[in-house]
Formats: sequence, structure tokens, C-alpha cells
Amino acid sequence: MGHVNETNRKDFVQNVKHLRLSRLIVILSLILFIVPLITHYYLSSVELSSDRITHNAHSHVDLPEDLNFLSETDLKSRIDELLRIKGSVSSELRDMENKRQKLQQELQQYSRQIEQLKQELAHQQTELDKLKISVQQAQVAQREALEQNSPELALPKKLVANELPDFLPLSSKTVSKLCRLSTCFDHSRCSLTSGFPVYLYSPDQYPVMNSGWDVDGFLKTTLKQALGYNPHLTSNPKEACIYLVLVGEALKDFDQPSEDISYSENIPLNSEALKHLPYWGGDGRNHVLLNLARRDLSVNSKDLFDGVDTGRAILVQSTFTYSRFRSGFDLIVSPVIGPPGGDVWQECALMLPARRKNLLSFQGELKSARTVQIKENNSQYTLDNFIQKHLKELSQTSTSDKFYFEFECNPAVDDNMNLGLTDWALCGTDSSRRALLRESTFVLVFAPVSSELISTSLLQARVYEALRSGAIPVILGGDQIRLAYDEVIQWRRVAIFLPRARVTELHFLLRTFPDSDILLMRRQGRLVWERYLASVQSTIDTIIAVIRDRLNIPPLPVESFPALSVFNETFQPIRTVVNVEEEQDESLGPLEPPYNSPAFKRNFSLMLTQGYEIWNDWGDPFHLYPSLPKDPMLPSDAKFMGSERGFRPIGLGQGGAGKEFSEALGGNYPREQFTILLLTYERDQVLLDSIARLRGLPYLNSVLVVWNSPKPPSPELRWPDIGVPVHVIKAARNSLNNRFLPLENLNTEAILSVDDDAHLRHDEILFGFRVWREYRDRIVGFPGRYHAWDINTGNSWLYNSNYSCELSMVLTGAAFVHRHYFYLYWKMLPQAIRDKVDEYMNCEDIAMNFLVSHVTRQPPVKVTSRWTFRCPGCPQSLSEDDTHFRERHKCINFFSTFLLFNCWRFFQVLYASK
Ligand SMILES: *[C@@H]1O[C@H](CO)[C@@H](O)[C@H](O)[C@H]1NC(C)=O
Ligand SMILES: *[C@@H]1O[C@H](CO)[C@@H](O)[C@H](O)[C@H]1NC(C)=O
Ligand SMILES: *[C@@H]1O[C@H](CO)[C@@H](O)[C@H](O)[C@H]1NC(C)=O
Ligand SMILES: *[C@@H]1O[C@H](CO)[C@@H](O)[C@H](O)[C@H]1NC(C)=O
Repeated sequence: MGHVNETNRKDFVQNVKHLRLSRLIVILSLILFIVPLITHYYLSSVELSSDRITHNAHSHVDLPEDLNFLSETDLKSRIDELLRIKGSVSSELRDMENKRQKLQQELQQYSRQIEQLKQELAHQQTELDKLKISVQQAQVAQREALEQNSPELALPKKLVANELPDFLPLSSKTVSKLCRLSTCFDHSRCSLTSGFPVYLYSPDQYPVMNSGWDVDGFLKTTLKQALGYNPHLTSNPKEACIYLVLVGEALKDFDQPSEDISYSENIPLNSEALKHLPYWGGDGRNHVLLNLARRDLSVNSKDLFDGVDTGRAILVQSTFTYSRFRSGFDLIVSPVIGPPGGDVWQECALMLPARRKNLLSFQGELKSARTVQIKENNSQYTLDNFIQKHLKELSQTSTSDKFYFEFECNPAVDDNMNLGLTDWALCGTDSSRRALLRESTFVLVFAPVSSELISTSLLQARVYEALRSGAIPVILGGDQIRLAYDEVIQWRRVAIFLPRARVTELHFLLRTFPDSDILLMRRQGRLVWERYLASVQSTIDTIIAVIRDRLNIPPLPVESFPALSVFNETFQPIRTVVNVEEEQDESLGPLEPPYNSPAFKRNFSLMLTQGYEIWNDWGDPFHLYPSLPKDPMLPSDAKFMGSERGFRPIGLGQGGAGKEFSEALGGNYPREQFTILLLTYERDQVLLDSIARLRGLPYLNSVLVVWNSPKPPSPELRWPDIGVPVHVIKAARNSLNNRFLPLENLNTEAILSVDDDAHLRHDEILFGFRVWREYRDRIVGFPGRYHAWDINTGNSWLYNSNYSCELSMVLTGAAFVHRHYFYLYWKMLPQAIRDKVDEYMNCEDIAMNFLVSHVTRQPPVKVTSRWTFRCPGCPQSLSEDDTHFRERHKCINFFSTFLLFNCWRFFQVLYASK
């Protein structure tokens, strides 16, 4: 049916065209035929009559004898007549000359009209073509919508438990020891759509420690606070999936004589109190016992939970013995030695240079047993002594590498950091250790002496300190231990794990590491440290995220920024239809109704398919994002073999240039549109002109204007109607950071950020869009800049906007950026950077470039534009220019202390089609 209509219409259109043409031809031929005819007729008659006259006159003159027959009067009248004829002939001639001129004019006019009509025809033809493409694409979209006979799968209603755990007595003691997620965890409380509610027992209301023991007060308050910031926390025990119990950091002094160590009152944890927790349910299912002690309580392989029946609860702590640790069930964490929360960036040590003063360092002392004697013949004890001896010798050999080893603490100045058990105690003070670590490329970390131990707080604390200062941990006895959260964190990329026996090969091994690998490991260590270890907040968030991840429950969605319109209900802006001079003669693509990018499609598959990347690379395991720049794409042949939905292959897959190319988006990603985001401050007319120019821009979803001025727009402003929604959003305050607000109505993945005065042609914009679709994780845009090394001072960076073949930034005054980076701008960048942007009222575009390069370790992509592209954001006057650039130099140097700058960005330029 639709097909018939389509051909009918085509015929009709062609008929109309044909008719018009033939009419033209008729007029034309008429004119061309008749005009010469008339002209010829007149001219020949004029010739005829003049011939006759001259002939007559001639005959009279030539025959004087005739004159004799003529009377004088006759002659006179003849002359008069001749004169009269002459007069009438010349007037006739004049008339004819006039007519001829008029006809010529008419002729010109007609040919002009023909030209105009021809142009009009061509224009109508392109309009028609454009419409045809739009119609075609709309039909494809409609067919897809119909074919998709199932509705979009939406999240089912949030399903949470609604009763407290039943009482189930623990069947036998062995169950606890053999607990696995499959045998001891109650999945029925944790539906996939539950959002993973977490309940915390108030440590004051439900104390679980024996008298004389307590959870450290600082820890108690900061943990409670940190949990309060975690969105999974619930106050309703009925709906909770897991129940957290704070245990540990015992305050009892271990340095006191401890002959009564075996007495039950010296067991800190009270089994009875645990069993009487209101939701324990007889066996402690789905309970998590959190022991985030900063000191090792364990004495000779004893730990906090020794002699305590923990039922089916999950244990979370830093110190574990092999016999206690239930892999995949219990969780090894890093002790909380960092600040409660907030930005940890100021703690970061510099990444560069790759090689530091010391190749390897160590600061610690192998303590003999204090509370419990270590067995003399413990082979590892002996081995560690051998290692010590070997390393001492190594540091005395003559080699260009520097080592710093301190195997004996100085009790006079060192912190009392012996953590209560026989092991490698820490030497030095916190600040002296930090200073040494900052000067060390690698740092030694010894596995616990007792081979029974799989992890200790001390070990984890050493790794924490090393990563904080950018020293790469080399773990001797790395085959014995496990580091925190190793089910999700790829520690091999961060630390070097070596069996103790390799100590003699250690120096050789470390020498083989090139600078690039050193930096890669340091950088990875910093990522892991910042995200998962640095503060109490990150520790708590990580523990909850790891347990949630085990159950494959997605994180909670990231919050967007509410988009409040500057217009209120009573006042709606005046809209006018604008007529801008046509920029394009050719069709650039279909005009389609708004089509939002699909969002939240991978809630349940993301962590399965890209979990390791999310935890260890560019991702954020704590939030669920609508879409990611690194979302996988289908192979290019899939769209012809069953996965065609949404795809718009060029020439239906045959490919092609020109018309076919402009008809379809092509590429390896399904169809999509982009949003234009404009930041404006009191430049109404400039803004309105910019908006008006967007009329008829294919693939444009909507325009968002962030109104930075505190003054609302004047009610007289006439907002151009450009065929797509234009939202004007009130900014809370005037800040350039508002350019990257993750607004709730950013409905597409592609955001074209433009200055309100930028003038881009439609074909340039669309070329940029097509390029961005193939480089979705980068900034793709027009104004390229670079950071240059200041060769005069030799110690800083300079911002440079001169034309250059080397580019490292693409300014967001005219660039495509993935929506995801708008969230990261607020979630990942340190507050200090946004503060700097506010302080200077400058540099937000540089910050965004730093962010994206930091995440992707890739350069931006520059798309060429007309040479006339003005420098948006470049101030007009010279003095302004100076401060502007000085600020931008400062910004680059400031930002590079926060964000890793060790990835020099190469230039990459793509040429526009014209
Ligand atoms: C995925 O999660 C988001 C955010 O919670 C939700 O809006 C969406 O409906 C979910 N989609 C599916 C298919 O579950
Ligand atoms: C340690 O081993 C040596 C020789 O192997 C033996 O003579 C000595 O008695 C052992 N010491 C202890 C405390 O077992
Ligand atoms: C709505 O906006 C108009 C124009 O900005 C203003 O004059 C009016 O007072 C506003 N009304 C309310 C209820 O805020
Ligand atoms: C840019 O080029 C001009 C002219 O070559 C030069 O004077 C100026 O110093 C350059 N600016 C920078 C920042 O390199």
C-alpha cells in the first residue's frame, strides 16, 4: 500500500516537473520563433518602402525630361508628399526601433526568468530530496518500531525483602568453616532490582564487644558517617539485603604482660551478643562483620574471630590466616589509615620523573617475638634473615643503582608501629617514611613471617603507603599473600609479586623495567589507591561495592542535575519563525523527530562483560551511568546478519558517496542525534543569532542554553523557532563550570558544546558529528591548542594558541564531547580544579581536556574548519589577552599537578570534506 502510494507520488511529482518544463519550453520557443518573425517582417517592409521611394526619387532625378511634364504645383505637392512620406517613414522607423528595443528587453527579461525558474527548480529539487530522505528515514524508523513487537524492557518494580530474617538455627559448626556464597548466603533478600539495601547496626545500641573492649571511637564515628554518604544505606531492617556489624579496633593494651591471653575475657568479641543481634536470625545469614582495625590484633595466628562462632556471617578485615579465610566469601580489606573522606589529591606524590633517587628501599625491622615466641626453626624466619643479609650486601656493592635499606629501627625517634606480633615492624615516623617512599622507584614489602598468614594489616598498610607516594611495591613472598579486594582489582598491574626465593634475582629483575612500565604501574597504583583505598569513605564504598558486585546487582544510577527553566509557568517566551539565508544547497541528512540515545541498557550485563575494565581502567564501579563512551559496538557485518535494528548503512550497505552518504549516518553505531549546549552570559542578540543559524540542522535533537546571568532573559526577546526544542536553563550561579553540568535533559550521548558566538557551518558540524561517532571517547572538535614546554625557564608548561601542527587540546568552544564526561567532570575531577576555574573565570575547557586525556590516555581529535573560524573565547582587547593567556599558563601547570600528565598527547587532525 505504502509502496503504491510512494510510486504514485513519485510519478505525480515527475509529471508536475514535466509539465512545468514543457510549459517553459513552449513559452521559450514561442518567443524565440515569433520575435525574429516580426522583426523580419517589419524590417523587410521598411526596406521595401524605402526601395520604392528611392527608386521613385531616383527615376525623377535621373529623368529630367519628366520634369517638363510636371506643373509647378504638381511638383510642389509631390515634394510635400515625398516629405510627408519621409516623415511618416522615419517615425515608423523610430517606432519600429522602439519596438525592437522593447522586444529585446522582453527577451532578456524572459531569459532572466528562465534562469530564475531553473534555480528555483534546482532549489525545490534539493528541498524535495531532503524531504524524501527525511520521509524515508522516518519510514525506516516506523517500521523498526512496529517490528519491535515487544515493549522496551523497563526495570521491574523495585523488589525488596519485606520481612525480617526468620530464625534458622545453625545446623553444625562445620558449616561456618566451609561457608561459600552458595551455601551461606541468602539470595532471596537481594533481588537484582532491589538496589542492594544495606542496614547498619548502631554500634552504641547493639554492642558486640566484651566488656573492657570497644570499637575505637574515631573509627566508629567516621565509619558511621561514611556509611551515611553511601546511597545503599537503609534504615529499614526489613528490606535490607545485608546487615553490617562494626567490630574491632580493640582498645585493650597489648603491650601489657599477657600471660592470661587464653582466658575467655581476653576474647574481644562477644559471641552471645552477636547471636542476640535482632536480625541475626539464628545463624547470621547476610551479616557482614566489619573489622577495620588499623592494628593487627592477631597474636600467633589468632585473630579477633578466634573462639567466636560467627555463623554464616561474612568476615571483613585485613588480617587473615589461611585456615580462617574463606575465599570468595570473606573479604580482605586495606586498613583505614587515610582521612575520613573528601579529596585526597593533595596527598598525591608526583608521577615524574619515572626513576627516582633510590631504585629500591626498605625501612623496617624483623622483630623477634614479644608476646609469643616464634619457633627457632621456622624456615621463613630463617629465610627472611638470609634475605636481610643478602640485601645488605647488595646495597654495598658498587653499582650505579642506589638502594636504601634500614633493617633496624631507632627506638628513640620511631613511631611505635610494631603492630603487636612478630613480623616486619615499621620503622621511622610517618613523615620520614613518606619522604623515603617519595624518593624510591620500588619499595620492598615483606610477606608476613608466619606462612599461616595470608594477609596482615601491616602488609596492607605498607602497600597503602607505597601507593600513596608513588613507589611501586615489590612483595617478597608475594606467592603467600593476597591483597585487598583482589577479586576485582588487578594487583599484578600495580605491584610486583615475587617468591622469597627470587631475592637474589631481584636487582636484575628491577633493572629490566623500562621507564614506560614504571610509569604505567605507578599510575595504576595511584588509580587503585585513590579510588579504593585512600579514605575511610572509599574503603566503605569499596567494601559495599565488592559484595554487591558478587551478586551482580547494578550500582545505583548516577544523579543528574535538575534542569530548571529560566521561564516560569506564567511566562512563556515569544517564538518567531526565522528566515536565515540558506547555507546549504545540498542535502546533509534527514530532518527527523527528536530521537533520544538509548540509556541504561546494560544494567545487568555491564559488570559481566566489562567489569575488570570498570574496576581497573576507565570506569567507575560505584555508579550506574546511562551510557559509556566505551560501550561495545557490534562487528560491522552484524547489521547485515540479523542485528540491523537502528543501523542506517550507507546506500543500504552498498556504500557510496554524495547522495547515498548524505542519506544515511552509516558507521558502526546505530542511528543517533546530538544535543547542542550553549553557555551564555548577557549577550542576547549574539545568542539568538546563533540559535537561529541552527535551523534545519540534521540530527539535531535539542538545544540547551545554560543561562549564566542572574538576570532572567528579557520578556521581549524573540526566540527563534528552529524546529527542535530549545531549553533555557537557569544556572545556580555564574560559573564556567556550568558548561559541563550533567543536566537531566541531556538526552543524547553526543553533546556539541559551543560558545554562543561560534559560527560553524552545518556541513562542518555534521562532519564533526560523523567523526565523533567513530571516536566516542575523545573530544572531537575544531579549535586546536597545545601545551608547550617553556624553554626559557625549563620548568613549566605554556599554553599556546598559535597555529601549529602539534596539538594536544581541542577547546570546548566548538567540540563534541560524550555526555559521560559531564558526570566525570563533577565526580572525578578534584574540587580544587573547579575552584580554579571559578577563580579565574577561565580554563574550564582546559580542565575538560585534561579530564578526558586522563581517563582515556588518548589525544583529542581535531577536525579542520574554515580558516575564518574565529577564536571563540579569545578576548578582544590586548590587555585582556595578556591576562587571559597568563591565567591559562597557570591553569595548565596547576592542573598537571593533579591529573596525570605523563601521557603526552599527539596531534591528530582529520580533514573536513571541503
Ligand atoms: C536500568 O537502571 C535504570 C536506573 O535505575 C532504570 O531507569 C532502567 O529502567 C533500568 N533498565 C532495565 C532494563 O532494567
Ligand atoms: C632447630 O634445628 C636444629 C638442627 O636442625 C636442631 O638441632 C635444634 O634442636 C632445632 N631447634 C628447635 C627449637 O627445634
Ligand atoms: C515569571 O517571569 C516573568 C518574566 O521573567 C516575570 O515578570 C514574572 O514576575 C514571573 N512570575 C513569577 C510567578 O515568578
Ligand atoms: C605566537 O606567534 C607569534 C608570532 O610568531 C609570536 O610572537 C608569539 O610569541 C607566539 N606565541 C606563543 C605563545 O608562542
